[in-house]
Amino acid sequence: MYKTLLTSSEKGILTVTVNRPDKMNALNKDVMSDLDAVLNFIETTADVKAVILTGSGEKVFVAGADISEFVGLSNDEGKALAKKGQDIFHRVENATKPIVAAVNGFALGGGCELAMACHFRVASDNARFGQPEVNLGLIPGYGGTQRLVQLIGKGRALELLMSGNMIDASIALEYGLVNHVVPQDDLLPKAKMILEQIITKAPLAIAKCITAANAVFGPENGYDVELKSFGECFTTNDMKEGTAAFLEKRKPHFKGE
Ligand code: COA
Repeated sequence: MYKTLLTSSEKGILTVTVNRPDKMNALNKDVMSDLDAVLNFIETTADVKAVILTGSGEKVFVAGADISEFVGLSNDEGKALAKKGQDIFHRVENATKPIVAAVNGFALGGGCELAMACHFRVASDNARFGQPEVNLGLIPGYGGTQRLVQLIGKGRALELLMSGNMIDASIALEYGLVNHVVPQDDLLPKAKMILEQIITKAPLAIAKCITAANAVFGPENGYDVELKSFGECFTTNDMKEGTAAFLEKRKPHFKGE
């Protein structure tokens, strides 16, 4: 179905694995169009309640954009390449279902940017993060200069962006770039365990959490987005079910309606 992605589904959780093991799972044009296609699938498939995004193997999550595709690009072509990447990563960030990065090794350049576009990150203890673009005479182009500042603050972000240095999983945890660090074998189980809990909650409310949290960094006033989203919750059957279940001292059964 996909050239460069493996997918498997279990109890409403879709695991998407970037699979270019001979090229360190680097993001070439095929991976980007597969990511676009899998996002369409995620958004249109009711059975998919949440997503884990990871890389194949135990060494690398994604080692960046495919550097071989950069050779000979003009100013406009470089900009167009970055625009495509930004658009796809915006789709990840604004997905209506939770997308968690399970970072199983190197997350460099576009790999770090992809992990940062996800709603949050869980890492294995061998994971390493970095934006090494300056080594190539480049800067991040898939949102990395923005999301790194948002996630870890300007000083730490600029040190990483300008030095091209990598940080290990324990520093990433200290910086708040990842939520949890676990041994490699526990990585997918940990991500699944978190998502299994999340998907018992009201799906429309989850989507609105994502929208409102993203509004902190968007063009609209985030408090206004929160007000609008809060009000809309009152029009949902899930909100009626959730409050009724609480008052009747029973578990709610949310339908995402
Ligand atoms: N784009 C294209 N190819 C890449 C790649 C990338 N971002 N990252 C790795 N590869 C390729 C290598 O060219 C090599 O291909 P080859 O076997 O045909 O020569 C293969 O993947 C294995 O990589 P290699 O560098 O030999 O593995 P390693 O274990 O020595 O090092 C990394 C692993 C991740 C540290 C190293 O590959 C690396 O630094 N990659 C580039 C990271 C980067 O600069 N990303 C930002 C891109 S904007």
